[in-house]
Amino acid sequence: MKRILVTGGTGFIGSHTVVELQQHGYEVIIVDNLVNSSIEVLDNIAKITGIKPSFEQFDLADPAKTADFFNRNKDLSGIIHFAAYKAVGESMQKPLEYYRNNIGSLLNILEGMKTCALGDIVFSSSCTVYGQPDELPVTEQAPIKPAWSPYGNTKQMCEEILRFSAASLPIKAIALRYFNPIGAHESALIGELPLGIPNNLVPYITQTAIGLRQSLHVFGNDYDTPDGTAMRDYIHVVDIARAHVVAIGRMINKRMKHNMEIFNLGTGHGFSVLEVIQSFERVSGLKLNYKIVDRRPGDIEKVWASTDFANKELGWKAEKKIDEMMTSAWKWEKALADRKGQQ
Ligand code: UD1
Repeated sequence: MKRILVTGGTGFIGSHTVVELQQHGYEVIIVDNLVNSSIEVLDNIAKITGIKPSFEQFDLADPAKTADFFNRNKDLSGIIHFAAYKAVGESMQKPLEYYRNNIGSLLNILEGMKTCALGDIVFSSSCTVYGQPDELPVTEQAPIKPAWSPYGNTKQMCEEILRFSAASLPIKAIALRYFNPIGAHESALIGELPLGIPNNLVPYITQTAIGLRQSLHVFGNDYDTPDGTAMRDYIHVVDIARAHVVAIGRMINKRMKHNMEIFNLGTGHGFSVLEVIQSFERVSGLKLNYKIVDRRPGDIEKVWASTDFANKELGWKAEKKIDEMMTSAWKWEKALADRKGQQ
């Protein structure tokens, strides 16, 4: 059985990826410091797959602990690296923390890979590297624009670190640029668990509907889009998770064509904030309380992916539609409320 290290494996995308890996016959070891996730996720993964993944709790930004981990785990077949800080606004307030954590962890992991003579790493990147693209849908060849936030900059820098490492070290890397991952596993046992007030649209919608928040603020309706609200390429987290299994298989089975490859993970369709709200209202049968407010500083107007390269070269395609994404997000929010009610 091939053994895969999943860093950040108790987080939102990480936990869904662990499930898919296990269901495809991989053995998983998770490393996570639990700063933005919870230990119960391990039991919930086990409820879905019947297998509780191995787990170690430590900070990958700690060089000594990371080196020690790799010294004890020389039998890994690959790494999927999710562990990182991810809040755009927070990164503006705490730039050095973001650089130290997101860059430091990757460097420590790459050092560890040398120790283990381990060559394969899948990296969790973001469409944020494109900024506001000049052309839509945006392809992997689009220029990387100056970052709008330290968070986005760490994604750009990590891609560059991987590119140069893959050019001169025995390392192969696949960077997956996620568009907007939303939704939850159909079991409603794992999903997104934002700490405090959510920054992202969909958890804000579901928390408003369940009564945790009063009203959703729609950030701006004066964009150059059909209804004036900003547009994004929302993609189901399970589709994103499946792409990681395909990517790790491509590496292990030596099907990569270059030492570093980059793929967009999107659906190819843009939805406006109001269209997302309408989808939520359709599937939940509820009316959402929302009001239009000013634009959020740093937001781009519109972005959606060209999916051609991932479809053809990776042999992966996002399958789930917006209503299915919102149905699963709502089912997850209700399951969370039920669990809280039982406590
Ligand atoms: C951002 C980052 C992305 C990162 C993600 C996770 C950019 C361009 N994108 O995505 O890389 O992975 O955060 O943190 O930096 N909205 C509202 N009201 C709300 C919340 C959001 O109207 O309360 C709107 C936003 O203005 C935006 C859309 O909903 O148009 C999606 O916002 P959000 O879910 O925060 O994701 P992004 O900002 O696209």
